[in-house]
Amino acid sequence: ESWPHYDFVIVGGGTSGLVLANRLSEKKGVTVAVIEAGDSVFNNHNVTNVAGYGRAFGSHIDWAYQTEEQQYAGGSKQIMRAGKAIGGTSTINGMTYTRAQSIQIDAWEMFGNKGWNWESLLPYYKKSEGFQVPTRNQISRGADYYISYHGEEGLLKVGWPNAMTNSSLLPTLDETFNQLGVPYNRDVNGGNMVGLTSHPNTVDQKANVREDAARAYYWPYQKRSNLKIITNTFANRILWANDSHHEAVAIGVEVTSPHGVETIYASKEVILSAGSLKSPVLLELSGIGNPDILHKYNIPIKVNISSVGENLQDQTNNGLSYEGTEFWLGSPTFSVLPSANQIYGTKVTEIASAVNASLADYAKAVSNSSNGAVQEANVLAAFKLQYGLIFESQVPFAEIVLLPIADSFSSEYWPLLPFSRGSIHIQSAKASYPAAINPNYFMFPEDINANVDVARFIRKAFGITPLSDLVGDEFAPGLDNLPNDASDSEWQDWVKSTYRSNFHPVGTASMLPRNKGGVVSSDLKVYGTKNVRVVDASILPFQLCGHLTSTLYAVAEKASDIIKKQYRF
Ligand code: FDA
Repeated sequence: ESWPHYDFVIVGGGTSGLVLANRLSEKKGVTVAVIEAGDSVFNNHNVTNVAGYGRAFGSHIDWAYQTEEQQYAGGSKQIMRAGKAIGGTSTINGMTYTRAQSIQIDAWEMFGNKGWNWESLLPYYKKSEGFQVPTRNQISRGADYYISYHGEEGLLKVGWPNAMTNSSLLPTLDETFNQLGVPYNRDVNGGNMVGLTSHPNTVDQKANVREDAARAYYWPYQKRSNLKIITNTFANRILWANDSHHEAVAIGVEVTSPHGVETIYASKEVILSAGSLKSPVLLELSGIGNPDILHKYNIPIKVNISSVGENLQDQTNNGLSYEGTEFWLGSPTFSVLPSANQIYGTKVTEIASAVNASLADYAKAVSNSSNGAVQEANVLAAFKLQYGLIFESQVPFAEIVLLPIADSFSSEYWPLLPFSRGSIHIQSAKASYPAAINPNYFMFPEDINANVDVARFIRKAFGITPLSDLVGDEFAPGLDNLPNDASDSEWQDWVKSTYRSNFHPVGTASMLPRNKGGVVSSDLKVYGTKNVRVVDASILPFQLCGHLTSTLYAVAEKASDIIKKQYRF
């Protein structure tokens, strides 16, 4: 089979890629191809089932990337899940729809990305969103909102599952968390995330199925003759024009399809939307990256950007679980997002100054561990920002998800803004060879301490009435294993032996000025190239307090407008 030329070739038909594919192909005569390694999961019950979270893990639609041994976290490797399907990771994720604290998006502009702030992104959050107003029954179970925060015309259906947790749990949780200083937050999607909330999900309320990127942005538009999705096809590298001396000019993408190795040509642009754990790898395989790394594998250097694949930021997830005193039906939607003040109380000043005093050392360690690929001063600036967010702006410090299911009542939690920074790099010039992924979990004492402190906070909450009435014994970690007077180091050992990735990797092709460690500019173009962009979770320069998809949909909507503006269509 030979492929025609397309105007735009998008690598990755996932969360971000399908937004671009849809918006760019809105214009008749503009041709768009999407290269996707996976296939349709439209009828895959592990995907569509609203209560089926986790069922797709380990199946053929899960990339299940493996990390390097985590030297600060007990040595074991971790699995980082990501979807391999039309719809990408939105087909296997937890469906939570929460955005960010507004100041976190403002920070993008403060760090040099002109035009990127909360106020300018909010219209795109709304543009992407098809908010479904909750029913009376759902409201009685805790669903609530301010309509002014939401978009009702967008393609992505957002709302609450049909079957929400039975009983009115909210007053019990509210009364409990109020005693810990955590207020009720009616709607976390307006830029202020702290509090106890019943968060919306990416769900089609009427059909009662998962709303993934494909159901929202692709399937209803699949008949467009100028939009072609090429499935079961793996992108190997970007191909360049021979005469691109000054700026690198992409002419297409080399792929391995069921028919063999082929080229798919792009006459305007190649856009990488393969995810945080693939787009930087594709850049390196195409000659864009750190010369020290590319030399090792005899890859000719197209553009020297040493920060490609650096700046990897992920969170760590863990949980406490209890025997339930009631039987719970339905899908839980309650989260608690406490600030540092609420977690630490009067101890916060002491903690904050200890963290503040460590920032310079942390920044030096990150730069050293990258062999100088990232500059200490740039990391320090990011760490000062992060310190300010946590301890001055008091953005949420952690997310605690409450999971009353059947006869148990458990929780999952993750500190939202760890300082650990890692990397992802190729280990071969062969595209099929796995990359070295190293998130450096618990690289710094603050990160492991944060996990311990949030776990202790959760145990405290489950011990306070009226929440305590709903639980019996603690199954995990359990009082036998970790009594109330357990030491910090005993808690730390437990964290290291039970944590997992929170599956929120960002930053590996950051949108930042080039001298600040950026890989793409504020129009998402890869520095030194004429026509290559990255649009996916890799470009988020800093971790967010929200789950990622809502922001990625908004970013991809905005990216589509940036591209349309450049080509005037
Ligand atoms: P995404 O992974 O969606 O798309 C990349 C696409 O590129 C995939 O389809 C992939 O197959 C394809 N691809 C990769 N390499 C390729 C190659 N070489 N050639 C061709 N195709 C290639 N977020 C949230 O908002 N709420 C939540 O509840 C959760 N929960 C959650 C749970 C789990 C288990 C995971 C793994 C993740 C979450 N997340 C989440 C995170 C969120 O789902 C995730 O950050 C985004 O979906 C990522 O979107 P991207 O567009 O960056 O990549």
